[in-house]
Amino acid sequence: SGKYRIVMVRHGESEWNQKNQFCGWFDSALSDKGKSEAQAAGKAIKDAGLKFDVAHTSVLTRAIITLETILNESGQSGIPVNKSWRLNERHYGGLTGLNKAETAAKYGEEQVKIWRRSFDTPPPPMEPDHPYYDVIVKDPRYANGPSQEEFPKFESLKLTIQRTLPYWNDVIIPQLKEGKQIIIAAHGNSLRGIVKHLDNLSEDQIMALNLPTGIPFVYELDENFKPVVSMKFLGDEETVRKAIEAVAAQGKAK
Ligand code: 3PG
Repeated sequence: SGKYRIVMVRHGESEWNQKNQFCGWFDSALSDKGKSEAQAAGKAIKDAGLKFDVAHTSVLTRAIITLETILNESGQSGIPVNKSWRLNERHYGGLTGLNKAETAAKYGEEQVKIWRRSFDTPPPPMEPDHPYYDVIVKDPRYANGPSQEEFPKFESLKLTIQRTLPYWNDVIIPQLKEGKQIIIAAHGNSLRGIVKHLDNLSEDQIMALNLPTGIPFVYELDENFKPVVSMKFLGDEETVRKAIEAVAAQGKAK
């Protein structure tokens, strides 16, 4: 086993996941199913005996509540929690709020797959007249960053990685070096970025990776932070496989 261990989890199903809408930086709450997924994740962490010194999450409610639920369920709600916009979901630009299946019917499943999963093709930008522009840009949770120049109007996975990786390198790695046990509760695409980095995945490999909601996974890393155990899910194979397929299928026209 590795020198370092870190646990990551994508938030439970959100209301917009349930409605199959592109969400990105829109602050959708957890659905009832998402809350149950977070409780189950907490139980799995408790059963695995995983204890943490510090937790990291985004500034979006669905990830924060997932983390709080996990910590409560596993009897460790007192630990420090760091929140950063750098762990946010990828910004879905002009697609934010659109239904994924309707978008596939309109633009084709192939185009939607490119928008959802390609490495560097971004979605169209979110313009100031977009229905969710103001609610996102003027949200007081962004008072401490990103700056106006950094504030995204859209993000490809590549751009997402560019703003997530500094957090990994400058905050997470030093804490691992101090021997801290860490959990990160974040999002489908911010976590895909970290996974791509850790496992050194090609653009084709990352295109094929879908992360299930609410199922924690473990990495063990050697002294150079190279994985000796990658993405070991705390769940039985069949459940994990079905949850991954459900995420992939969100981009199909009905
Ligand atoms: C979203 O922002 O809509 C989801 O959280 C992730 O979406 P994706 O699986 O379509 O990239």
